[in-house]
Amino acid sequence: MIDALGTLPLGRYPLFAQAPGSFWLPGQESTAAKVMDPVFYLILTVCCVFFTLVVGLMAFFVIRYRRRPGVSPEKSPSQHLVLEIIWTLIPMAIVSVIFYESFLAYMEMRTAPPGCYEIRVTAKQWDWFFAYPNGYVDTDLHIPVDEPVKLIMTSEDVLHGLSIPAFRVKMDLVPGRYTSAWFRAVRPGTHQLLCTEYCGDDHSDMLASVVVHPPGEFDRWLKEAGDFLKTLPPAKAGEQLFTLKGCANCHSVEGAAGTGPPLNGIFGKTHTMADGEEVHVDDDYIRESILDPRKRIRAGYQPNMSTFRGLISDEEITWMIDYIKQTK
Ligand code: CUA
Repeated sequence: MIDALGTLPLGRYPLFAQAPGSFWLPGQESTAAKVMDPVFYLILTVCCVFFTLVVGLMAFFVIRYRRRPGVSPEKSPSQHLVLEIIWTLIPMAIVSVIFYESFLAYMEMRTAPPGCYEIRVTAKQWDWFFAYPNGYVDTDLHIPVDEPVKLIMTSEDVLHGLSIPAFRVKMDLVPGRYTSAWFRAVRPGTHQLLCTEYCGDDHSDMLASVVVHPPGEFDRWLKEAGDFLKTLPPAKAGEQLFTLKGCANCHSVEGAAGTGPPLNGIFGKTHTMADGEEVHVDDDYIRESILDPRKRIRAGYQPNMSTFRGLISDEEITWMIDYIKQTK
């Protein structure tokens, strides 16, 4: 087996490091994989056979009928009806089989069964947000095993692509409209989820984990995760959210400038905006910066941030403000 990805620096991605890439498709972790893989391998086999046949015959003819001294070219026969019928019918039969098998697999992949567990997905540069029916939002995808799960997806900014190779799932997320994908995981485990649509600077770091919970464990996990922040003091909850909502990707709390300005010790200060306006950093300004981040841009920075409207509750915003207030 050829280890196609073996030479890449995959140590950065722990999930890949556990199961290094191979020439073949990854393990069949969803019901869709069992339907799709035979089609893929059928097409791959047909391609390999015809590639070998065409290139092999071409090489053979080039050598066999090369120009040699003393041999003059002969006129080639103009038509061979039987041969032409054969080389029309055989490929037609092959592509018909490929079409039929692909169509069945495609219908299976696109038609979500009734009663799916629905999770809303929002992508924004450069994070994934998975919103569960109880309102809890996580940056990793948690799902129950052996239950059909439907993702209803959209993007806040640019095109993103959600791909879970182990599930054979891949679907684009488009700003301003919804797309969906469904799957049924066949066993508990952890898999890699990645963005497959080039979406800017940190596209290649737009990763998440898919955690498939064993029977019964998913509901417990969801309840605990949803209640967890409410058990903390507001500023502590804000600190957790700072990482959970992906703020830490662009904003430091140690004073270093990132894609966005550092946020430590800003409360009560006066900042100069790109258009020269002086702004007093208070509760309202922080709230506005989360919900309408492009309204006022701090001098020296680009309008890279997109809104968190719908991704953060009012209660969570107050926790975040409390957290920023007490940073130094
Ligand atoms: Cu999001 Cu690439």
